[in-house]
Amino acid sequence: MKPKGTTPGGGSGRRPIVVANWKMYLTAAEAVTRVQQLLTESLPDRVDLVMCPSTTALAGIGQRLAGHTIQLGAQDVFWAAPGPHTGEVSAADLRSLGVRYVLVGHSEHRASAHEHNDVVHRKALAALGHGLSPIVCVGESREDRHQHRHHHVITQQLDAAIRNLPPPDERQELLVAYEPIWAIGTGQPATAADAQEMADVIHRSLLEVFGRDVVARRTRVLYGGSVTPANVGEFVEGQSVHGVLVGTAGLPAAGLGSIVRAVASR
Ligand code: PGA
Repeated sequence: MKPKGTTPGGGSGRRPIVVANWKMYLTAAEAVTRVQQLLTESLPDRVDLVMCPSTTALAGIGQRLAGHTIQLGAQDVFWAAPGPHTGEVSAADLRSLGVRYVLVGHSEHRASAHEHNDVVHRKALAALGHGLSPIVCVGESREDRHQHRHHHVITQQLDAAIRNLPPPDERQELLVAYEPIWAIGTGQPATAADAQEMADVIHRSLLEVFGRDVVARRTRVLYGGSVTPANVGEFVEGQSVHGVLVGTAGLPAAGLGSIVRAVASR
């Protein structure tokens, strides 16, 4: 049995967090309308909420969220400084729009942009260098899991992304989202036990890179993949998973509101 206080999840004390990833579903105007609807939902204070709309919606949503505690997140960032990079968006530009969080290495983006671990690392580094909090996404394929390679795959993805990163400063944090590819958008979530187990694997990697103090104060681990208002409670019940990354079920304002309230009631 592990001695008290050394559970991989590091114990509670972290605020629960819900990150909504709206992917490429909405136009900028539609996304702003959804956020206005969201602001009419009763959203409990004890849960952090981060909205990640598409890039075109960031400015409009940033204006609507002014004065609210809901934070703005981007779905991607380019690693280089402003310069000759057609089609890319810099961390400095995101920061200027009031963005605080940024997804890096989402499996859909890894697939469509053929993005490898070293690029995910550079993006996390650029984010931290510009006052953003990266949400590093890792996840194994169904095949990896069938072959019992999931611990290895997740550890490799994460180590490559976070090795040699500076620790997040006092205004930042580093989030890691465990998102098994086979659970994203399929209606087949991982079990809560699987999510906890993988969160513990992630926690061990975080501890090796950043040490106990930084991990306890500046990191959180999320689960993502077919999270719904009905199942979200199971994922955040234990000590290892501190929040969720939600796609489909968080697209309607009412659905996202229900998820936040369900997390708050745990
Ligand atoms: P999903 O997406 O909730 O629709 O499975 C999660 C994600 O891709 O972040």
